[in-house]
Amino acid sequence: MSKKKAAKPAPKKAAAKKVAAKSQTMMTENRVFKPSAEFSKKARIGSMAEYRRMHEESLKHPEKFFGREAKELTWQKPFTKVLEWKCPNAKWFLGGKLNVSENCLDRHLVGVNKTKAALIWEGEPGEKRVLTYQQLHREVCRFANVLKRNKVKKGDRVMIYLPMIPEAAIAMLACTRIGAVHSVVFGGFSAESIKDRVLDCGAKIIITSDGGYRRGAVVPLKKNVDDALKSGETAVETVIVYRRTGQDVHIEEGRDVWWHRELEYVDAHCAAAVLDSESPLFILYTSGSTGKPKGILHSTAGYLLHAQMTCKYVFDLRDDDVYWCTADVGWVTGHTYMIYGPLSLGATSLMYEGAPNWPENDRFWRIIEEYAVTVFYTAPTAIRAFMKWGDEWLKKHDLSSLRLLGTVGEPINPEAWMWYHTQVGGGKCPIVDTWWQTETGGHMITPIPGATPTKPGTATLPFFGVDAAIVDDLGQEVGKDEQGKLVIRKPWPPMLRGIWGDKKRYQETYWSEFDGWYFAGDGARKDKDGYFWIIGRIDDVLNVAGHRLGTAEVESALVSHPSVAEAAVVGRPDEMKGQGVVCFVTVKEGIATSRDLADELKKHVRKVIGPVATPDEVRFAAALPKTRSGKIMRRLLKQIAAGEVIKGDTTTLEDLSVIAQLAASGED
Ligand code: WTA
Repeated sequence: MSKKKAAKPAPKKAAAKKVAAKSQTMMTENRVFKPSAEFSKKARIGSMAEYRRMHEESLKHPEKFFGREAKELTWQKPFTKVLEWKCPNAKWFLGGKLNVSENCLDRHLVGVNKTKAALIWEGEPGEKRVLTYQQLHREVCRFANVLKRNKVKKGDRVMIYLPMIPEAAIAMLACTRIGAVHSVVFGGFSAESIKDRVLDCGAKIIITSDGGYRRGAVVPLKKNVDDALKSGETAVETVIVYRRTGQDVHIEEGRDVWWHRELEYVDAHCAAAVLDSESPLFILYTSGSTGKPKGILHSTAGYLLHAQMTCKYVFDLRDDDVYWCTADVGWVTGHTYMIYGPLSLGATSLMYEGAPNWPENDRFWRIIEEYAVTVFYTAPTAIRAFMKWGDEWLKKHDLSSLRLLGTVGEPINPEAWMWYHTQVGGGKCPIVDTWWQTETGGHMITPIPGATPTKPGTATLPFFGVDAAIVDDLGQEVGKDEQGKLVIRKPWPPMLRGIWGDKKRYQETYWSEFDGWYFAGDGARKDKDGYFWIIGRIDDVLNVAGHRLGTAEVESALVSHPSVAEAAVVGRPDEMKGQGVVCFVTVKEGIATSRDLADELKKHVRKVIGPVATPDEVRFAAALPKTRSGKIMRRLLKQIAAGEVIKGDTTTLEDLSVIAQLAASGED
């Protein structure tokens, strides 16, 4: 992209919704926390001057900067060119050949890392397992051979639907070993969600387990897979089943095989496939503004480099760290920061299977104490739950091993930040509030812990190679403290390479709002120090407990119920979850509304999408408020949902037409 174009982007959508400029109540958060001299002295980047110098170099001379950083990966064949950019298609490290599993495993088998813990695992019922790099390597090679035995080839898609057990990491790494493309589906998604994703990515094989443990109960994973395949629409020929819980499951002859049985047929030697830098690595489905989740596609070298680099500079991971990322492997955070980043760097990554409040509210603190966790990465929604449960749960445990804390997933409110800082971090640990997305592959805006003075509630400054800006609808940078749209103006190594099977949607979703720039879908503002404050999504995507959920997805689940005529779904502020899901529903002629029907609809959404999407409230309306051109007045519904306009019995029929008329002016 030429500089000229970058300076004056053509606004493609003249009538784009105006972002509420200035109207946002400004947070007056003036507390500043500087990294301690002790932390800075040991950190890889120990001053703002150094951060600024590196950031400037990464933007002005990306070839030089990333060319140098990429030397820290193990290449089977060196790359010849750092970047080729024809918007919206980026290619990084052209001509290079490498293998992700080789970078995450084989190269650590020389020297002391060979016998170091790669994964420390604890199951919810309490079992413990440690896999050294050598052991993990062996398991990955064996399972890669199982995949080969089951006819999986380079480029084939492999669906993974597993609980948080080491086998999830083993299965993912085994795919990378042979060049297969994994697509992990979060265990909280339903049979229908699995089916949609299998159909979209064309997987012929699914790896699952009989079940998984969650808050003492067994999640019937295999049953969900059976239901997903029941209609016979998918191309799935093989299901590999890991025995986790031991409950009875249906085994379909000729289709289903047991993981442990398959291992009996293979040996532990499997050469790492020679793969191109741009070889597809994984597809991960995430919600967008339509009813159909997008298969975000990531490729090999740029992604791996960034995963490793951010673990090095943002988490400042060391040989003796015990690092714990609490995200599920079904989300991008689990991919980048539980598996690929830490393992590529040769670190020790802790994995815990279950809920934070099982058997009691102190499970996380128990784990931190027991394994002497040093770096802890979690979500604001979890922090708010811990706050609610009370400090006494922490007080029972020695958390003094912690040296660095991180958050991700949604804006963190200053109160939760302060609690995290004082109660968990004992006032001595820097906090890295990391803003990023499934699409961005890894951290984009984040403090550098030994350098950046932090303020509660801001993700602070862009990471290396990230040219972030906040602009108005015309693409002009907004002034200090004004709200605008967050854009990224240059390609970055781990950026998504597309939406699986949908080039047009890729272009339209991310690159058409501002020609040549990536539009993140978030609103943000910058303060006087240039720090980015993320306000949250400004598209039709909700962020519920750190999980992305498309309002259109929930709407289409609702209208698939025989009683529903029309539905509109909005978010409302929620103290614990960030946002709650409120559904406005009109029923078909002759259908009576009732509390029972509201409950039934909640269950229906849960069944169609999965427990992650369970509505907080279903409200019935005689008609949905619409503009003269027929668009649903979401802004009004949001106000109603938040209780700003009217409060009403949630199960009686609401006549929204009057308020709609009142609010109609200016909506069309
Ligand atoms: C939100 C998760 C504020 C944001 C890695 C983004 C955040 C969406 C932060 C992506 C943060 C993530 N501060 N908001 N530190 N981190 N978000 O794809 O709205 O599940 O667009 O990726 O989460 O969610 P996703």
